[in-house]
Amino acid sequence: MVIKNADVVLKDGVKKLDLRIEEGRIAELGKGLKGEGLDCTGLTVLPGLIDMHVHLREPGFEKKEDIASGSAAAVKGGFTQICCMPNTRPVTDNKVVVSYILNRAKEVGLCKVRPVGAITEGQEGKNLAAIGAMKAAGAVALSEDGKSVLSTGLMANAMMYAADFGLKCLCHCEDASLVDGGVVNEGYYSTLTGLKGSIRAAEDVIIAREICLAESLSLPVHICHVSTYSGVQLIREAKARGVQVTAETCPHYFTLTDAVIASFDTNTKVNPPIREEKDRLAVIEGLKDGTLDCIVTDHAPHHADDKSVEYDLATFGISGLETSFALSYTQLVKGGVLTPEELADRMSGAPARILGLEGGGIAVGAPADLTIADLHAKWTIDPAAFVSKGKNTPFGGREVFGAVRYTLVDGEIKYQG
Ligand code: DOR
Ligand code: ZN
Ligand code: ZN
Repeated sequence: MVIKNADVVLKDGVKKLDLRIEEGRIAELGKGLKGEGLDCTGLTVLPGLIDMHVHLREPGFEKKEDIASGSAAAVKGGFTQICCMPNTRPVTDNKVVVSYILNRAKEVGLCKVRPVGAITEGQEGKNLAAIGAMKAAGAVALSEDGKSVLSTGLMANAMMYAADFGLKCLCHCEDASLVDGGVVNEGYYSTLTGLKGSIRAAEDVIIAREICLAESLSLPVHICHVSTYSGVQLIREAKARGVQVTAETCPHYFTLTDAVIASFDTNTKVNPPIREEKDRLAVIEGLKDGTLDCIVTDHAPHHADDKSVEYDLATFGISGLETSFALSYTQLVKGGVLTPEELADRMSGAPARILGLEGGGIAVGAPADLTIADLHAKWTIDPAAFVSKGKNTPFGGREVFGAVRYTLVDGEIKYQG
């Protein structure tokens, strides 16, 4: 197949090119290529988007999402590869669950699904999980996502064991004793609403701790969903002195402020919480200067039963796979912060590098994982149209630019919009 007349986002800029796909890989890039084709005039070809932080909920919470519905949401959102977090039931803390996820994803056959194993057995924070066995079964990273490993000593051991197996720890940073039941950011809007707030330090002290461990042990660490201006600064300073730290953020942290909680809409409840304008601006600055390496969704689908309750009782999380690309493109590229090639790096190149995954760029020989979008298309986010089982988004009704038209995985069209 030849993709014709597209604007192709390469590492060094956007070029009008044709692209030949053979046996699932990019075989040729050039002008006027001959052959059976897909006319992409007016469309933009990006390296297949990679989301290194999603929750697929299977096994155990299939009412919220399963591997089939989550994979469908992924390819609809332009994602060709996703990494799924281990807070399933049973927890993904052993090779059996890792293999189950891989087998089920293969049966579904939409995007590439890469399991993330738990750091501790049952995510209970007591004993390290079977790290080597999970790696052998196909886990691509380790995480205690949903919480932090409370014991610093255990976390240090986890980082050393993980490194022995070529894995990184993806750290959800939250000191539960500081959060202490907080459900939103502490500030003007927590006071206005009477909702219990949680201070930035609840996130920052663990970011600082993980940086200290990475620095002392000379090991890599990855910080999940950074939401605070002060966390961005901790990571920037650590990188400047050579610490092997990488970091991610999510669209809700660079598009929203905690003013949205005044609605009491439980779809704004997420962990870490949506913070203030100075945080939002710092997150954008961090994405621009590379302090924050990549954009993830933290796709956290929940059933309406989990959200249609009082704010305090609702579960934390936003269903993000179907809105991430358009929100990011609109806010960051149309907003004049990132170039298209920088956005492709934050949403594909960087996650591939961080986890050592195949893909992440358009080049001869690379897998033909491609996201083809109409960047001029304007549309309105409608959760009722989500294919994810999780309709929990605070972005319903928002107008965005950038619509995914085709998602190709190993050269096969897995989504057509
Ligand atoms: O908002 C969140 N939802 N944050 C997390 O850390 C966990 C996630 C979930 O699993 O629902
Ligand atoms: Zn998390
Ligand atoms: Zn998460």
